[in-house]
Amino acid sequence: MGWDAWIFAFLVLLGHSQLVVFLHNRMYSLAVDHKTTDRIQLVHFLWLCIGPITLYFLWSGQVPSPQTTDPEWFRSLLWGLAAVGLIGPPMDIYLRSIRRKMAPASTRSPLQATIVGHPGNYVSSGIWGQIAQIPGNRSLYPILECSEVPIAGLPLALDGLTVLHLSDLHIKKTPNRLFFETVAEELAKLEPDLICLTGDLVEKGGSAHADVFRSFLKRLRYLEAGLAILGNHDFWHSTKPTLNILEDLGYLHLGNKKSTIRIRNTNVSLWGLEYPWNSELPEGWKQPFEEWTLCLSHTPDHFSRFARLGKGLMLAGHVHGGQIRVPFFGPVIMPSAYGRTFDQGWFRRKNAYLHVSQGLGGGHPIRFGCSPGASLITLKASSET
Ligand SMILES: [Fe+2]
Repeated sequence: MGWDAWIFAFLVLLGHSQLVVFLHNRMYSLAVDHKTTDRIQLVHFLWLCIGPITLYFLWSGQVPSPQTTDPEWFRSLLWGLAAVGLIGPPMDIYLRSIRRKMAPASTRSPLQATIVGHPGNYVSSGIWGQIAQIPGNRSLYPILECSEVPIAGLPLALDGLTVLHLSDLHIKKTPNRLFFETVAEELAKLEPDLICLTGDLVEKGGSAHADVFRSFLKRLRYLEAGLAILGNHDFWHSTKPTLNILEDLGYLHLGNKKSTIRIRNTNVSLWGLEYPWNSELPEGWKQPFEEWTLCLSHTPDHFSRFARLGKGLMLAGHVHGGQIRVPFFGPVIMPSAYGRTFDQGWFRRKNAYLHVSQGLGGGHPIRFGCSPGASLITLKASSET
């Protein structure tokens, strides 16, 4: 096979992978139940692996192929995949390059400074415990990012407000109770004004996971308020134990609606967005808001509308920074209608700001090039309009 045929084959494989990943990311942004997402994941994985093998055997003529019956159709398919492979990745890279990403002054420090001893202490027995300890896997090495962010339109009363943003704990067997308690001991020293939890807090699996969540949360301290919403993984089992813990520890569950709290003797508008996993799009979500608004949304997919409706800060999670980030390319799998756009960190449109947490945990403890973490945000009033 000549080099031109190899290049063609490479482009066909690239196009095939691009289509599978594109579909996978968009499907995972939809409100589908756990069993369906598991099936979709399996189908996409098989399609990703089996597709190239099937194409090879059809191409080489080792099995009866459309080449013999309808060569035009097969040739069109290959040229179509090659075209996607040629155009798709550069377009994807271009779209990422024009994101309105912000880089506020920030420091990153390892939270695992307090996690001492063998990593095996922070996992449960079983396959996931072994996978979490694979060299290079960052799942047991969380970081704390502290950022000072100038916010145009921020009410002066909120200048200097500190927010601890935590998301996607996904509490299950691995990482284990000791991991979350140790992380909480370190986070407790921060004593922020607000603690904001943006969903996927506890995985299904009985009361043991909820107990770990309680133990984690009760160690933390906030000065003004604790706010929380739930995520898709929370809705895939009973939400009652999680909501009871939030209520017991004084956290306000924002749900899927607008509300108001008093912070520093000022009324602050709040939006909670658990949509699409919790009921319909909330009443009033399409109406512009005049006042500066703090919004907790599980998915960052709502940011475009938030920016159209008014000014404020949206905190989101759900996408986990991709969990596996390829050097120079970034994340691949990202359950968002916007693909890899809102992967992690800060984004801005007009006077609307978005912070996307990379999460403290994950559905599976597999993280390469993408540490789990917590974010301490200091809001600064900016004179910019
Ligand atoms: Fe999550």
